[in-house]
Amino acid sequence: MKLNKDFLWGGAVAANQCEGAYLEDGKGLSPMDILPTVQLGRKEAMYHPELALEKDYGYYPSHGAIDFYHRYKEDLELMEELGIKAFRTSISWARIFPDGEGEPNEAGLQFYDSLFDECKKRHMEPVVTICHFDTPLALTKKYGGWGNRALIDRYLNYCRVLFKRYGKKVKYWITFNEINMITHIPFFGGGMVIKEDENVSQIVYQAAHHQLVASALAVKMAHECDEGLMVGCMLAAGSFYPYSCNPEDVWEAVEKNQDSYLFIDVQARGKYPSYAQRIWKEKNVTLNMKDGDEEILRCNPVDYIAFSYYSSRLAGVSPDINGKVADGNAIYTLRNPHLDITPWGRQIDPMGLRITMNDLYDRYQKPLFIVENGLGATDKIEADGSINDDYRIEYTRNHIKAMKAAMEDGVICLGYLAWSCIDLVSAGTGEMDKRYGFIYVDRDNDGNGTLERMKKKSFYWYQRVIESNGEKM
Ligand code: BG6
Repeated sequence: MKLNKDFLWGGAVAANQCEGAYLEDGKGLSPMDILPTVQLGRKEAMYHPELALEKDYGYYPSHGAIDFYHRYKEDLELMEELGIKAFRTSISWARIFPDGEGEPNEAGLQFYDSLFDECKKRHMEPVVTICHFDTPLALTKKYGGWGNRALIDRYLNYCRVLFKRYGKKVKYWITFNEINMITHIPFFGGGMVIKEDENVSQIVYQAAHHQLVASALAVKMAHECDEGLMVGCMLAAGSFYPYSCNPEDVWEAVEKNQDSYLFIDVQARGKYPSYAQRIWKEKNVTLNMKDGDEEILRCNPVDYIAFSYYSSRLAGVSPDINGKVADGNAIYTLRNPHLDITPWGRQIDPMGLRITMNDLYDRYQKPLFIVENGLGATDKIEADGSINDDYRIEYTRNHIKAMKAAMEDGVICLGYLAWSCIDLVSAGTGEMDKRYGFIYVDRDNDGNGTLERMKKKSFYWYQRVIESNGEKM
């Protein structure tokens, strides 16, 4: 099928994984700034942030990252050469409000003014995530993160500043990155430090409710600011398959999908699904809703469904599963014997993208937007300076084919944004050597390297894909 000429081909990054300059021009700390690489204990620190708040790990990858803060002009020039039409990034909340609240920091605002101007100059539509795993650390320390309802007002104050300042430059907004992650990685998702003796589910579902209310009010605010603004939710997607046709396995997959759909059901349909009651009951959660919350959710659904897709997932309870698991991007999944797997344990399943897109579109009947898809891999620089990342080309080609197949099935999709157009710090492991980009950045896991940018083979391949609007792959 032929794609519309305004299909948004592009790439995606996040502030805390690429900008660096972690304290420059008045920026405050974000959760990522206190997490080391996986080799130095990142996983432990992600799940026990109380350690990260006290311990000195010596090296922190986000502090310098790929220095996008100082090199964004040169990087966007390369992306213009790549031909991208949409560039997704996030705004660092702590750059605009170093303490998460109070008065905005003009230097931070000016940085994003210049960044979005540069995007426009280079004919790229910015797609902006308001909060990408980076609720300011000051709000963790003062309020305990999103478990506290006070965060709604802090977030809305931040949104007010953003929509007013950038509403004429940015059309596409995303309220929270991968909102369903909050129940899996509460420190990333909601800036929360949960003690071992606390009821984790009670805290995370209450925090999620606060984010859902905040998200709905942000949609309202954006539309009041300019009715042409498009505001989306964002799901860490990847449908669960049942391990077998054993009805117990099928039901397990239904439940696991509902765990994630719960969030998007609220954001897209305007109310909690009926199965939410079962989930809360099973987890001993009593949700505290204020008068008016239900109306806020009902009246302000999102305009589109953005999602990341790296892989499908697998669920079941059959006795022969044998404890074999894979990396479901922070969401627990079984190992699917039919799929290849990367050295980081992530399964590769292009057909799963078609299935996921059909699932989401059938359910919500709103335009979809793929805002993250890509392969984390080790790249080798050859003696002649070339980087022959055929594995990345193959992964991306197969996923774009699957996306097109879903569109032939009738799914409406606004665009495809590759994660990430340029190498950056991995969120899950803090490594640089888990590379996703079409553009290589000379920096290693320990922070060594010149930061020089180099085009990989996939750069030229993706350039042709965009030039031909997805015809030449
Ligand atoms: C998504 C996140 O979950 O996956 C990104 O939105 C992240 O921030 C991406 O980088 C890839 O995961 P990872 O852990 O390999 O960086």
